[in-house]
Amino acid sequence: MFKSIAVATRDRGRMAEVSAVIARFGLESLAVRLGLGESDSREGVEARDLPTRTRRALEALGPTYVKLGQILATRRDLLPDPWIAAFEQLQSDAPRLPFEQLRAEVEAALGETPETAFAAFDTEPLAAASIAQVHRARLQDGTEVVVKIRRPGIRARMEADLRLMRHLAALAEARSGAVRRMRPTAMIEQLGREILDELDFANEGRNADLLRADLASLEHVIVPRIHWEWTGEQVLVMDYVEGIPPRDPAALKAAGIDPSRIALLGAELVLEMVLVNGRFHADPHPGNLLCIPPKQPGDDGLALLDLGSVGFVSPRRQHEFLTFILALRSGDPRGVADMLVAWSEGGDIPRETLLRASERLVSRHGTGKLVLNAMVADFFPLLRQEGLVLPPDLVLIFKAMVTMDGVLAGIAPDFDLSDALGRMRGKLVASRLSRLTEPDKLEAALLEFSRVAEEAPRFLRAAAARMEAPVSQARDESAARAIKLAGWLVGGAVVFHALAALLIHWT
Ligand SMILES: Nc1ncnc2c1ncn2[C@@H]1O[C@H](COP(=O)(O)OP(=O)(O)O)[C@@H](O)[C@H]1O
Ligand SMILES: [Mg+2]
Repeated sequence: MFKSIAVATRDRGRMAEVSAVIARFGLESLAVRLGLGESDSREGVEARDLPTRTRRALEALGPTYVKLGQILATRRDLLPDPWIAAFEQLQSDAPRLPFEQLRAEVEAALGETPETAFAAFDTEPLAAASIAQVHRARLQDGTEVVVKIRRPGIRARMEADLRLMRHLAALAEARSGAVRRMRPTAMIEQLGREILDELDFANEGRNADLLRADLASLEHVIVPRIHWEWTGEQVLVMDYVEGIPPRDPAALKAAGIDPSRIALLGAELVLEMVLVNGRFHADPHPGNLLCIPPKQPGDDGLALLDLGSVGFVSPRRQHEFLTFILALRSGDPRGVADMLVAWSEGGDIPRETLLRASERLVSRHGTGKLVLNAMVADFFPLLRQEGLVLPPDLVLIFKAMVTMDGVLAGIAPDFDLSDALGRMRGKLVASRLSRLTEPDKLEAALLEFSRVAEEAPRFLRAAAARMEAPVSQARDESAARAIKLAGWLVGGAVVFHALAALLIHWT
């Protein structure tokens, strides 16, 4: 069916496999819609369960395709709900390989056998995922560690997949207007970057060191120590963490862990990474987190694993994100609409439309519990309907926050992210003020704060208007919160300007 698609000789075999999987799962009409196929004879049969069959086809094609599907699962701004639901189900489980199949790889990386390198090495895997298999071991000094081993041949296979995907994406982009709007070549570039990062375990080790330093002030958050003498591109050795993933509150309680403490800690962690440090774990799903039972009451810990993929947030985005949440939570649709304009690419939407949409968001999510998942589930389709596309870095930020919010809500149903945000505010102001000591960041920070100063009175007005209206207790509380929030923003801005003026005078 891909007769008209010319591919490089070395990629023909894989292309034939892709073709066969498309036929096996009856996806010809989808290929036609993407501008990549010719025949469309089975359209009637194919409409049924198309998203599910596509998901199974991606699984059959292996980890590169699964990852592409996982990226698509975060794009509610591009795809309708049934597709998102199907892609969220993607499984990246991989078969456990007998250790003997990994041995040559491990010995080449360590420069000796695992039996001589380590005091003990367990050839039974602790876990197996698509890129790596994880084994337990003990160092000569007695430290319990895990050895994360890259699957043999995986780099060459994934690079070949990416090459073919790039080619197909460029074709689809040229042939189909609907596909062009999704900017598939940019998406494949993003996929390629993430995969290259994740394939290099030395990169994961460096990320672990950076995040551990970033998070030093959160004493209950742990990033396992890396043992660099054994770590390289193909093998990563780090401290073993005894803990359980945050999947089920009953299991946590049985292990002596308090789910609501973990929820608070997780919220603090994600907000600190995104809004303060600007460097964050891009995929904090339960398999990449471990909850650690307390040695003393209140000492429950949370460990971050799997740091191959790390995202960055610019100070401007941090500010925009806060402004958006603040506008949303203080009942200010105009502020929400401003942010939509700033964030949207490729649309020229009438302000009236944006304002109406923002009013809808504010009425649904402006008060009560802040559930990012539900907010994003409303927010992204709205962008899609209006033909707006979010910049990719923002998509990644939302994805990380929504993933963590979902995990935390799963273990502590009463969890409310807005409480955590409120508690963070002192730290947020301090982190912005600290930029004063870094002259190259002063200008950007000044601009940022002058915007905050301009906007804060509007939040105050909006909050005050709601205080005056006859409202329920809950609304009173949220209005009071909004006033407090606006208060510290104004306060922060005033202090900041005073300090900045002093500094400028002196230098
Ligand atoms: N330091 C560790 N301590 C304990 N278990 C770990 C550790 N690192 C990884 N694991 C276990 O191995 C699994 C796979 O590791 P991970 O780094 O997430 O690999 P992948 O990139 O293949 O998802 C984790 O979900 C966790 O169960
Ligand atoms: Mg993982």
